[in-house]
Amino acid sequence: MKIIMLGAPGAGKGTQAKRIADKYHIPHISTGDIFRANIKNETELGKKAKTYMDQGLLVPDELTVDLVMDRFKNPDCANGYVLDGFPRTIPQAESLDAALAELDQKIDYAINVDVPDENIVNRMSGRRACLSCGATYHTVYIPTKVEGICDRCGDKIVLRDDDTPDTVNKRLNVYHEQTQPLIDYYTAKNVLVDVDGTKDMAEVFDAIVEILGA
Ligand code: AP5
Repeated sequence: MKIIMLGAPGAGKGTQAKRIADKYHIPHISTGDIFRANIKNETELGKKAKTYMDQGLLVPDELTVDLVMDRFKNPDCANGYVLDGFPRTIPQAESLDAALAELDQKIDYAINVDVPDENIVNRMSGRRACLSCGATYHTVYIPTKVEGICDRCGDKIVLRDDDTPDTVNKRLNVYHEQTQPLIDYYTAKNVLVDVDGTKDMAEVFDAIVEILGA
C-alpha cells in the first residue's frame, strides 16, 4: 500500500503516519525527519536544509526528490510506504509519478488531514520533538513519562526551531501557496480522501482505518 499524507503543518500527518506504519507494517518516510537528522549530524545536506527550514521555507526540490527516490531503494519499501511531508509541490508530485510509472506502480491513497489554520498555531506551540528518533509529543495531549525526556530513546525533547509562532505562520502561507494545490492534483487522480483532523487523535486514526481497511 502506497500512501501520501497531505495537510497543513501541524495537522497531525506525522502522528497518523506513525500509526499507519505500525498497523500496516510499512515504513514511515518523513522528509522533515530526514532533514532534521541531517541537521543534527551536521551533514552538508543538513546545513543546506537548515537555512530554508528555519525560515519556514521549503527545501528546494532538487535536494528533496533524489533523497526520497534513494530511500525507495531500501528493501523495506517492497510492500509500500507512508510518505509524510513529500510530495509538497507539484514538481515533486510529478517526479514521484514519473518514478512510479517506470515501475508500473501508483499511489493508492492521498490522505488529506484537514485542520483549519486557527487550530494549528496552538498545537505547534505545545509540540515537543525528539531530534534523535523523530518521536513527537504534546505538552497537553501526549506528555512524556519523564518531563523533557523522550519515552522512546531517552534523549532530550525540544521545541523545534521552526515551531515558533512567526515561523509557523510563514509555513502556513507556504503550505497554502505551494502544497495545497496537491489536493486538486490527487483529486483528479481519484486517490484523495479527506479526514477531519480536528477530532481526537484516536478518532482520526479510526477514520483512516475505515478508509484503508482493517
Ligand atoms: P515537516 O517535518 O514535514 O513539517 P510539517 O509538514 O510542517 O509538518 P509537521 O511535522 O510540523 O506537522 P504534522 O502534520 O506532522 O503534525 P504532528 O503529527 O507533528 O517539514 C519541516 C520542514 O522541512 C518544512 O517546513 C520544509 O522546510 C522541510 N521539508 C520537509 N519536507 C519537504 C519537502 N518534501 N520539500 C521541501 N521541503 C521540505 O502534530 C502536531 C502537534 O499536534 C503534535 O504535538 C501532536 O501531538 C499534536 N496533534 C496531532 N494530532 C492531533 C489531534 N488530532 N488533536 C490534538 N493534537 C494533535
